[in-house]
Amino acid sequence: MVLKVLILGGTSEAFALTGRLTGDPRLELTYSLAGRTAKPRLPQVPTRIGGFGGIEGLTAYLLRHEINVLIDATHPFAEQISANAQAAAALASVPLIALERAAWQPMAGDDWQLVPNLTAAAAALPSTPERIFLTVGRQSLMPFAAKPHHHYVIRVIDPPDIPPEMQNVDILKGRGPFNVDDETSLLREHRIVRLVSKNSGGKAGSAKLVAARSLRLPVLLVDRPVHPGVNTLESVDAVVNRLAHYQASLANRSE
Ligand SMILES: NC(=O)c1ccc[n+]([C@@H]2O[C@H](COP(=O)([O-])OP(=O)(O)OC[C@H]3O[C@@H](n4cnc5c(N)ncnc54)[C@H](OP(=O)(O)O)[C@@H]3O)[C@@H](O)[C@H]2O)c1
Repeated sequence: MVLKVLILGGTSEAFALTGRLTGDPRLELTYSLAGRTAKPRLPQVPTRIGGFGGIEGLTAYLLRHEINVLIDATHPFAEQISANAQAAAALASVPLIALERAAWQPMAGDDWQLVPNLTAAAAALPSTPERIFLTVGRQSLMPFAAKPHHHYVIRVIDPPDIPPEMQNVDILKGRGPFNVDDETSLLREHRIVRLVSKNSGGKAGSAKLVAARSLRLPVLLVDRPVHPGVNTLESVDAVVNRLAHYQASLANRSE
């Protein structure tokens, strides 16, 4: 019997997981994107784009499409959809697996300050002007309008709406993975003295932290939100194994 799996995506891990599962005749996959990125990377499986309409909409989708397993492989900072996935999976009695890459951990030589959210990150910035490399994503810039005296070098995938208060801004377009040499050159060329980022984890964005370490630059890192009670796995392999387990129990039940 075929296991119907809905993958909530928008991350390189979601894309990699879907690639690993594609072509498995025991699975029927659907990939889901919010529709935030103009040119998203699309897997070779049926893909739907756009919100479901909150918890109610996602619950209805799971029931209507007879989904057997829901995988939340969204970004660690995509709080709303993860909360919705947890609630909808419970309401529809569908098992939920969260695929969440491990957070970055400080190493010897790192000068990190961890803050609980973006507002706290902006508040922690000094009162004297600095040149700051800001990589929090284009939808997370608003809190930094409270500190408009800094010069922000902002890296984004799609053009952001810059809050009008932020007058001193350079926009760099770029999508990971990035390498350490390029990140080091970027920090030097833009005369960056501090980095501000979310603790997204993963390899694609970690090179900037290695570059900051080698240049002895301080980093302000926003801690990720936690999702108590969710079955969270950190690797694509672990999710593939867990799905095999669900598939086997479904096959046993239908015998
Ligand atoms: N937040 C980040 O820093 C970040 C970074 C990189 C990539 N992303 C990706 O970008 C997407 C949007 O992030 P966000 O922070 O705006 O999310 P969010 O605040 O958690 O979600 C807002 C709403 O967007 C819709 N949505 C989000 N992800 C979806 C998905 N995969 N499929 C269908 N609908 C989805 C849902 O709408 P309904 O309530 O209508 O269902 C959700 O309630 C996520 O899929 C995430 O993986 C986010």
